[in-house]
Amino acid sequence: MSDDPSRLWSPAEDAPVRVRVPAKVNLALCVGPLGADGYHPLGTVFHALSLHDEVLAAPGEPGEVTLQVSGETSADVPVDESNLAVRAARLLAAEFGTPELGVRLQLKKQIPVAGGMAGGSADAAGALLACSVLWDLDTGPDDLHALAARLGADVPFGLVGGNAIGRGRGDQLVPLLSCGIYHWVLAFAHGGLSTPQVFGRFDEMLEQGRASSGTEVPAEVAEALAKADPFALGKALRNNLEAPALDLRPELAETLAAGRAAGALGAIVSGSGPTCAFLAESESRAMDLATELGRLEQVAATRRATGPAQGARLL
Ligand code: C5P
Repeated sequence: MSDDPSRLWSPAEDAPVRVRVPAKVNLALCVGPLGADGYHPLGTVFHALSLHDEVLAAPGEPGEVTLQVSGETSADVPVDESNLAVRAARLLAAEFGTPELGVRLQLKKQIPVAGGMAGGSADAAGALLACSVLWDLDTGPDDLHALAARLGADVPFGLVGGNAIGRGRGDQLVPLLSCGIYHWVLAFAHGGLSTPQVFGRFDEMLEQGRASSGTEVPAEVAEALAKADPFALGKALRNNLEAPALDLRPELAETLAAGRAAGALGAIVSGSGPTCAFLAESESRAMDLATELGRLEQVAATRRATGPAQGARLL
């Protein structure tokens, strides 16, 4: 060990920076036809949920970004440079730091992988905040937002959380005020769905007249949120990617139907799927619903969550 006191970490300094970051569902996901940039213009309402990943950032070797992953949904998460959290740390160091910065990242995952709940995007948002604090960088919310948008369409929302209207690729956000707490049941599927594949099937179905497009967010969603009315919100839920997700995974239609039959106020594929999200009238109704859905063969696991939840924050 070095005798130089400046090279000794006190326990507090040595403790990793910990950030908690939420999953999302889209209360409305209104998708336009494919643009020349390879993306689809969106009008969406993001809603952050109390289903979280945790991102830990500890000092690393100079210039090195390493990653460890643990938790309920850690299988199949890449730990190499392709991981969005690693790319977030690298981008932050390149734009606001120096090449000597290093970090040991750890993800504790609860958000399903390739589940349509923006788990990878959440981890990237968490890594941006955690590394920015660890490295003591001069970054404000707008700086992190700009980097987040470069990493992926859903990453900026991981930073802000709550409810927000998203336009453009989904990265241009306007916070949406809401009242009330909403009770959700999430039904995870066996295996994930690739977001580009679901968008690709959407394009095909649009051409065949089997899907509808449009970026106009239904006013009923914002009205229901303003009135704290879960019944109205349940009826207003909308997702243009549901048709292609069901086309790719027909068994999801049964999951949605079973949730509706068991009393869900609304049932929807989350984002590009395959997770299905069910709005319940109360916590106890959500518990009953989770029990019912958990019996289905095509459901790998169920989780209850409430929304809206805060965006990425330090613990
Ligand atoms: O932005 P992100 O990397 O998360 O997007 C993954 C893929 O999803 C994109 O490469 C694109 O194929 C598709 N996508 C899209 N339109 C959007 C967002 C994503 O077509 N608005």
